[in-house]
Amino acid sequence: MHDDLCLNIGVMDEKHEEFLEILSNIKRCEQELFLPLFEVMIHHTKEHFAYEENIMHAYNFYDKKVHLDEHENMLAEMNYFYEKAKKSPAFGKSYINEYAYEKFKRHILNVDSQLAMFLKERSIA
Ligand SMILES: [Fe+2]
Ligand SMILES: [Fe+2]
Repeated sequence: MHDDLCLNIGVMDEKHEEFLEILSNIKRCEQELFLPLFEVMIHHTKEHFAYEENIMHAYNFYDKKVHLDEHENMLAEMNYFYEKAKKSPAFGKSYINEYAYEKFKRHILNVDSQLAMFLKERSIA
Protein backbone atom coordinates (compact mmCIF):
# COMPACT_ATOMS: atom_id res chain seq x y z
CA MET A 1 0.00 0.00 0.00
CA HIS A 2 1.28 3.48 -0.79
CA ASP A 3 2.35 5.40 2.27
CA ASP A 4 -0.14 8.15 1.62
CA LEU A 5 -2.96 5.65 2.17
CA CYS A 6 -1.56 4.37 5.44
CA LEU A 7 -3.56 5.65 8.42
CA ASN A 8 -1.49 4.02 11.15
CA ILE A 9 -4.54 2.34 12.60
CA GLY A 10 -3.77 -1.38 12.53
CA VAL A 11 -7.05 -3.03 11.60
CA MET A 12 -8.20 -0.29 9.23
CA ASP A 13 -4.89 -0.43 7.36
CA GLU A 14 -5.16 -4.21 7.23
CA LYS A 15 -8.62 -4.05 5.66
CA HIS A 16 -7.48 -1.47 3.13
CA GLU A 17 -4.44 -3.55 2.24
CA GLU A 18 -6.64 -6.63 1.73
CA PHE A 19 -9.01 -4.67 -0.47
CA LEU A 20 -6.17 -3.49 -2.70
CA GLU A 21 -4.93 -7.03 -2.99
CA ILE A 22 -8.34 -8.28 -4.09
CA LEU A 23 -8.61 -5.42 -6.55
CA SER A 24 -5.25 -6.18 -8.09
CA ASN A 25 -6.21 -9.85 -8.36
CA ILE A 26 -9.38 -8.94 -10.24
CA LYS A 27 -7.38 -6.79 -12.63
CA ARG A 28 -5.09 -9.68 -13.44
CA CYS A 29 -7.51 -12.62 -13.37
CA GLU A 30 -8.82 -14.88 -16.11
CA GLN A 31 -12.23 -14.03 -17.46
CA GLU A 32 -14.01 -16.85 -15.59
CA LEU A 33 -12.73 -15.57 -12.25
CA PHE A 34 -13.81 -12.00 -12.81
CA LEU A 35 -17.30 -12.25 -11.33
CA PRO A 36 -16.37 -14.57 -8.44
CA LEU A 37 -13.57 -12.20 -7.41
CA PHE A 38 -15.83 -9.21 -7.83
CA GLU A 39 -18.15 -10.93 -5.38
CA VAL A 40 -15.28 -11.50 -2.97
CA MET A 41 -14.53 -7.79 -3.16
CA ILE A 42 -18.12 -6.90 -2.30
CA HIS A 43 -18.16 -9.27 0.68
CA HIS A 44 -14.86 -7.94 1.90
CA THR A 45 -16.07 -4.36 1.56
CA LYS A 46 -19.22 -5.12 3.55
CA GLU A 47 -17.14 -6.55 6.35
CA HIS A 48 -14.62 -3.70 6.19
CA PHE A 49 -17.35 -1.07 6.34
CA ALA A 50 -19.22 -2.88 9.11
CA TYR A 51 -16.01 -2.91 11.15
CA GLU A 52 -15.58 0.86 10.84
CA GLU A 53 -19.26 1.48 11.50
CA ASN A 54 -19.10 -0.51 14.74
CA ILE A 55 -16.23 1.68 15.90
CA MET A 56 -18.11 4.85 14.94
CA HIS A 57 -21.16 3.74 16.91
CA ALA A 58 -19.15 2.54 19.88
CA TYR A 59 -17.30 5.86 20.25
CA ASN A 60 -20.06 8.06 18.91
CA PHE A 61 -17.92 9.50 16.14
CA TYR A 62 -19.05 13.07 15.43
CA ASP A 63 -19.19 12.68 11.63
CA LYS A 64 -20.64 9.21 11.34
CA LYS A 65 -23.64 10.20 9.24
CA VAL A 66 -21.42 11.38 6.37
CA HIS A 67 -19.20 8.34 6.69
CA LEU A 68 -22.10 5.88 6.81
CA ASP A 69 -23.75 7.51 3.81
CA GLU A 70 -20.58 7.24 1.82
CA HIS A 71 -20.22 3.55 2.71
CA GLU A 72 -23.77 2.97 1.59
CA ASN A 73 -23.18 4.77 -1.71
CA MET A 74 -19.95 2.94 -2.41
CA LEU A 75 -21.53 -0.45 -1.78
CA ALA A 76 -24.57 0.40 -3.88
CA GLU A 77 -22.25 1.44 -6.68
CA MET A 78 -20.20 -1.74 -6.41
CA ASN A 79 -23.35 -3.85 -6.53
CA TYR A 80 -24.61 -1.88 -9.50
CA PHE A 81 -21.45 -2.52 -11.50
CA TYR A 82 -21.39 -6.15 -10.42
CA GLU A 83 -24.91 -6.66 -11.75
CA LYS A 84 -24.01 -4.78 -14.94
CA ALA A 85 -20.87 -6.88 -15.36
CA LYS A 86 -22.96 -10.06 -15.48
CA LYS A 87 -24.49 -8.90 -18.75
CA SER A 88 -21.73 -6.80 -20.15
CA PRO A 89 -18.26 -7.72 -18.87
CA ALA A 90 -16.63 -4.68 -20.48
CA PHE A 91 -18.71 -2.44 -18.26
CA GLY A 92 -17.52 -4.22 -15.13
CA LYS A 93 -13.94 -4.17 -16.34
CA SER A 94 -13.88 -0.45 -16.86
CA TYR A 95 -15.20 0.05 -13.31
CA ILE A 96 -12.48 -2.21 -11.93
CA ASN A 97 -9.65 -0.88 -14.08
CA GLU A 98 -10.39 2.80 -14.23
CA TYR A 99 -12.58 3.74 -11.34
CA ALA A 100 -12.50 1.49 -8.27
CA TYR A 101 -9.03 2.44 -7.04
CA GLU A 102 -9.60 6.19 -7.31
CA LYS A 103 -12.89 5.91 -5.50
CA PHE A 104 -11.36 3.84 -2.73
CA LYS A 105 -8.37 6.13 -2.38
CA ARG A 106 -10.59 9.19 -2.10
CA HIS A 107 -12.60 7.51 0.64
CA ILE A 108 -9.50 6.76 2.67
CA LEU A 109 -8.03 10.24 2.23
CA ASN A 110 -11.22 12.23 2.78
CA VAL A 111 -13.29 10.16 5.17
CA ASP A 112 -11.39 7.29 6.82
CA SER A 113 -8.55 9.66 7.67
CA GLN A 114 -10.93 11.75 9.83
CA LEU A 115 -12.00 8.68 11.74
CA ALA A 116 -8.37 7.65 12.17
CA MET A 117 -7.50 11.07 13.58
CA PHE A 118 -10.47 10.91 15.96
CA LEU A 119 -9.33 7.50 17.24
CA LYS A 120 -5.74 8.65 17.68
CA GLU A 121 -6.76 11.78 19.57
CA ARG A 122 -8.60 9.57 22.04
CA SER A 123 -5.82 7.00 22.13
CA ILE A 124 -8.33 4.38 21.04
CA ALA A 125 -6.05 2.85 18.47
FE1 LIG B 1 -11.96 2.03 5.38
FE1 LIG C 1 -14.81 4.10 5.70
